[in-house]
Amino acid sequence: MRIDIISAVPELLSSPLEHSIIKNARNKQHVEVCIHNLRDYSQDKHRKVDDYPFGGGAGMLLTPQPVFDCINKLKGERKYDEVIFMTPDAPVFAQQDANRLSLTENLIILCGHYKGIDQRIREELITAEFSIGDYVLSGGELAALVLTDAIVRLIPGVLGDSESALTDSFMDGLLDAPHYTRPANFRGLEVPEVLRSGDHSKVAKWKTQQSEEKTKKLRPDLYDIYLNKQ
Ligand code: ADE
Repeated sequence: MRIDIISAVPELLSSPLEHSIIKNARNKQHVEVCIHNLRDYSQDKHRKVDDYPFGGGAGMLLTPQPVFDCINKLKGERKYDEVIFMTPDAPVFAQQDANRLSLTENLIILCGHYKGIDQRIREELITAEFSIGDYVLSGGELAALVLTDAIVRLIPGVLGDSESALTDSFMDGLLDAPHYTRPANFRGLEVPEVLRSGDHSKVAKWKTQQSEEKTKKLRPDLYDIYLNKQ
């Protein structure tokens, strides 16, 4: 899989992609992540990529020229499954989106900066838009990293068996059950007996029950969807 991330502030992107699971996935060639500096595509003599909005309003917008030129160059080199734009005015990214995107070959992720981007970019080039939550960040870079992480860890071979994503929170529409490791008694705080019983079916039942209770309490919206699917 290949992910091309386009940004006017590429410095924000590099470090998180150079550690831990994403680093290993890149080293093992499960994924190629390429960062593109939008300023390299600007025809402006000062490498400007933004301008004031028509009709007034606060903040600057990314202009069409560098974005069109960068995306069209990439599209000339390979076929992309999606050209994604990160923006708060879009559907919230969820586990099902990560699952679907982890099965694709080539993705472009465009990070908005400043106040947003020219609408013509969205209409002509973008095929999917995601927000990472109902709050506004200074730019799309952190959001693009969230998407990249959620997708890359699902690519087959990236996580070992012991880290399998199949048992993650959200995979069955529920939040994860609590986890414990050694020691069984830490300063008087005990690990629940059932987890030490060695009875796999009892453990599975306990985990489901814990997940259901936790989801009902913390995320009643998810719990309703889960109940309707049963
Ligand atoms: N850019 C700014 N805020 C964002 C958000 N909440 N999600 C995705 N991209 C963003």
